Amino acid sequence: MQPLRSLGLLLSLLPRRPQEFHDRLAGYADLGVQRLSGEPPAYETVTWEQALRDLERHLGRVAGILEEPALEETEESTRRLLGRIRAEDAFSPRWAADSRLARLCYVLCRLISPSVVVETGVAYGVSSAFILRAMEENGRGTLYSVDLPPLRREYERFWGIAVPEALRGRWKLYRGPSARLLPQLLEETRTADLFVHDSLHTFKNMRREFDQVWPHLRAGGALVADDVERNGAFGELQRKNPALWRVVRDREESPLHGKAAPVVFGLAVK
Ligand SMILES: C[S@@+](CC[C@H](N)C(=O)[O-])C[C@H]1O[C@@H](n2cnc3c(N)ncnc32)[C@H](O)[C@@H]1O
Repeated sequence: MQPLRSLGLLLSLLPRRPQEFHDRLAGYADLGVQRLSGEPPAYETVTWEQALRDLERHLGRVAGILEEPALEETEESTRRLLGRIRAEDAFSPRWAADSRLARLCYVLCRLISPSVVVETGVAYGVSSAFILRAMEENGRGTLYSVDLPPLRREYERFWGIAVPEALRGRWKLYRGPSARLLPQLLEETRTADLFVHDSLHTFKNMRREFDQVWPHLRAGGALVADDVERNGAFGELQRKNPALWRVVRDREESPLHGKAAPVVFGLAVK
């Protein structure tokens, strides 16, 4: 039933949004190739606490930032929202950034005080909400988000729902695949202070995004990528000689939704 419904939704795109229909097919093909390719690499990993200590050495003190009321408020409101929409569940709550990744987005924005943040992968907009709240605290910055919205009925009601109205002034949301939109966007912003990848987690897509963004990332800027254990793209980033390169593997303490889950994500500083 579920695959049939998905197929129906996919085919319904063809007359309305032919380009998006093809973009999605390309994404599925990419996922298929990834499933057929060999075992992903086993990265050396660090805990969340260790990653924060490493980050402090490069970008400054994080302890005070983790205690900021704005961070706690954002966590609480996100938790309430994800709990409330659970029954309707247009996407899948597991698509929302985990609590550690969301915190990292907030912390990095407070440390770097970016004028430009670029992210790929929005869905409910949890990572976007944490970035935008940190920008509000900084009093500066614009978040440019690229997302091919999930193939779900009624996705419009839920797309970016975690971002409060009051924070949307700093947000530019672009609809489409990163493969097509990211180069144009980087041409517009020219530089980026922080990049967050949370879109299609295939080797091809992740490597392409990292290759496109890295030359635009300023020295001292950061790159964050979710689910890096799925393929070797984050490992290849080491060839660009980042000042810091870590794969974080840990467990949530205070999840934003559901039970505390294991988390894996990558963090690099240029
Ligand atoms: C894991 S979710 C993002 C979660 C979000 N960062 C959050 O914290 O709530 C992944 C999103 O990427 C979108 N996506 C999938 N393929 C994409 C592509 N090629 N380019 C851009 N976005 C894509 C999905 O439809 C979905 O909205």
